Amino acid sequence: MEYKIVHLPKEKWKGTVIPIEYTTDMYYDVIVNKTDNGFSAVIEKKYFTEPVKHTQEENNFPDKLYDDHWKNAYAWGVLVDGMLIAAIETDRELWSNRLRITELWVEESYRRRGIGHALIEIVREQARRERRRAVILETQSCNVNAIDFYLHEGFTLVGFDTCCYRNDDLQRKKVRLEFGWFPEKKKKLTAEEIEIRMETESDWYEVERMTQRAFWNKFRPGCDEHYLVHKLRQHEDYLPELSRVAVKDGRIIGCIMYTKSRVVDGDVTHEMITFGPLCVDPDWQGRGVGELLIRHTMKIAAEKRYKGIIIFGEPDYYPRIGFKTNDHFSITTADGKNFDAFMGIELFEGSMKGIKGKFHESEVFKYIPKEEVEAFNIKFPKLKKLNFPDQWD
Ligand SMILES: CC(C)(COP(=O)(O)OP(=O)(O)OC[C@H]1O[C@@H](n2cnc3c(N)ncnc32)[C@H](O)[C@@H]1OP(=O)(O)O)[C@@H](O)C(=O)NCCC(=O)NCCS
Repeated sequence: MEYKIVHLPKEKWKGTVIPIEYTTDMYYDVIVNKTDNGFSAVIEKKYFTEPVKHTQEENNFPDKLYDDHWKNAYAWGVLVDGMLIAAIETDRELWSNRLRITELWVEESYRRRGIGHALIEIVREQARRERRRAVILETQSCNVNAIDFYLHEGFTLVGFDTCCYRNDDLQRKKVRLEFGWFPEKKKKLTAEEIEIRMETESDWYEVERMTQRAFWNKFRPGCDEHYLVHKLRQHEDYLPELSRVAVKDGRIIGCIMYTKSRVVDGDVTHEMITFGPLCVDPDWQGRGVGELLIRHTMKIAAEKRYKGIIIFGEPDYYPRIGFKTNDHFSITTADGKNFDAFMGIELFEGSMKGIKGKFHESEVFKYIPKEEVEAFNIKFPKLKKLNFPDQWD
């Protein structure tokens, strides 16, 4: 069967009921006992005396797309003659860096044709791209068909809750089970396995091409960061003495570019530094290169007695290196705001003590005309702009 998986935009699909229905003659029995040393739990497939049908009517809360309690939901589906015949929805659980599948459904007459698998593949790809540490989902112990499908898809049991829906979930054989899938772990590169060095003019094209590959379709269709790299080098705020490229087997696989920035407190201006773009070639992402570049250049910056780095970046990535949100430093954005993506770090003990005020990044970041980016793109192998799948809405 030919079909296309499309993004289901929130504006159009919010509130659409997902008619999850199934009949089962089996269930996974959940038996939990207290033992002398703790607890034992056994979860085993058993037969009902007669088949049981589960429909949406039995739920107080029928499954719907873009339910309000999912804050970062994103849905895909398959349409046949305008009718939705399959859907999957995820919610990015940012605090735990996992991706939750909140809905998965294939209309009965379309099952066992590979559609469920294709939808799961989309989510796996999202998880890899967003570097989530797991894909998780909830199902019920009586939904044997779904459980067996998830097991087939490489999911494993990660937990259960014996009173999620009602206090008699165990007795009525409808226990919440949690399943998880874990992306393949990539081996981290060590500082000895790559070379980190200053950029030379002969690297320029490769660095720009690598930057384009790294950012392409990541935050919006296409990207402009590679053009920013190009412009940055000519700008008075650019700091080549801190900027570095990462090289592996003669190939540029990452870069970090620094610029001067300022924190202004009335008449007082504190010189700070900011990095960006920081990027790693997609073939080498997830292997610690970004972190090696940051740590390496932080050391150089500290030796040169720069006081601190202020950035706008992914709130679930930079704290592991020691970045804190800037409210810790009494620093706000130029318009007086603080939020998770606005972070800073001291370069040596107490180096940002007494620094407070409003942050101003270099003017070079302010204006990147679209037409100039388009004209610049001609220099590089053509890449396709995608509107899906992503979190651009
Ligand atoms: C669970 C569900 C989404 C699976 O979708 P599907 O389109 O039928 O699954 P696919 O055809 O893509 O199956 C992919 C693979 O899983 C296997 N598979 C599917 N159902 C299976 C099952 N019950 N037991 C074992 N393997 C199963 C298929 O054989 C196929 O294997 P293959 O790649 O080796 O050929 C679908 O049955 C459904 O919509 N069920 C009702 C809604 C529901 O319960 N959703 C889950 C809520 S938690």
